[in-house]
Amino acid sequence: ESAGQVIKCKAAVTWEKDAPFSIEEIEVAPPKAHEVLIKLIATGICRSDDHSLEGKFAAVKFPVILGHEGVGIVESIGDGVKDIKPGDKVIPLVAPQCGKCQCCKDPRTNRCLTRLKRQFGLMSDGTSRFTCRGKQIYHFMNTSTFTEYTVVEEMAVAKIDDNATMDSVCLIGCGFSTGYGSALNTAKVHPESTCAIFGLGGIGLAVIMGCKIAGAARIIGVDINPDKFDIAKELGATECINPNDYDKPVAEMILEQTGGGVDYAFECVGHAETMLAALHSSHFAFGTTVIIGASASTLSFDPMILLSGRTLKSSSFGGWKSRLEVPKLVSDYLAKKFDLEKLVTHRLPFQKISEGFDLLHSGKCIRTILKF
Ligand code: APR
Ligand code: ZN
Ligand code: ZN
Repeated sequence: ESAGQVIKCKAAVTWEKDAPFSIEEIEVAPPKAHEVLIKLIATGICRSDDHSLEGKFAAVKFPVILGHEGVGIVESIGDGVKDIKPGDKVIPLVAPQCGKCQCCKDPRTNRCLTRLKRQFGLMSDGTSRFTCRGKQIYHFMNTSTFTEYTVVEEMAVAKIDDNATMDSVCLIGCGFSTGYGSALNTAKVHPESTCAIFGLGGIGLAVIMGCKIAGAARIIGVDINPDKFDIAKELGATECINPNDYDKPVAEMILEQTGGGVDYAFECVGHAETMLAALHSSHFAFGTTVIIGASASTLSFDPMILLSGRTLKSSSFGGWKSRLEVPKLVSDYLAKKFDLEKLVTHRLPFQKISEGFDLLHSGKCIRTILKF
């Protein structure tokens, strides 16, 4: 029984911006009130981990344990934790849900106000549960999954079906849910509609899965890397476009090929340029554009483009109310409504995390899963 004791385990610590991952022995303090200690089974590697490593997100403080797309088993719980017990299978939540605040009670949003009140990288009491070589290590996105054990707040834990034995279920913790929910919840793609997806990485492919299940008639995949086209078509894209194959802007191509623009355009790259291309490829009178890619660049455009009737939207974690809906997404996966295996191109032991990031940079991988 580990309850109440400090755990020593291995973690991938990022000591500073751009530093290589350092596999270290760390100490994990026991969970305090309303906190949960989780033993990780697997974690995906997501672009946001990479952006954070590169220092693109100002809120991320170093040294830090990155990683946010995990699945694990509850090892122990702090005082006052309800509905979760040791031995439960869980997914840590990048978008926590207290269930009590104004936003949690409002069906229009999946945001939670409690999250805004706290310092990024620390638990609600303003401290960390991780130390290494005598130094405090910051948490990351309420989760920190590049470690054998992590501590997460109760409101950032979803209990999932014990029968979800496949490690790929961890993708429901970020990439899959973000893309899939952007199509279903944010855009609300309707049957027989036309969609364009810019960027066919893990996020864009999950958007395609959402468009398909929503009954879209045309799903146009756009990527400058044509190696992504086969998998995009396998998942539901009806056609694919490589912008580099044409002299004119890709938005113009799409306007021509769709008789005036798509019903729904999704940006899953994270560049201002592709955000504008998505916006310009949407129908002038009723097209909706959803921005999913995270970017540090500034967007500027003529407001007339919206005044004609276009809508520009975004969402976080695909609009899912995390604690309530992550378990349902897992059940849908078990019921074979979608196939996460299609997004998994590589599996590595946790200690080979640096190789996983090399694969991410190579463009050859959709998702790498690290196994503990
Ligand atoms: N036009 C079209 N596609 C592009 C372009 C471009 N100008 N530039 C890059 N791409 C493609 C890449 O070839 C790649 O296939 O966009 C895809 C991006 O995929 P990943 O790098 O695998 O990223 P992913 O994990 O899907 O995340 C996409 O969403 O959450 C954010 O931070 C994340 O900004 C990132 C974005
Ligand atoms: Zn992510
Ligand atoms: Zn809340």
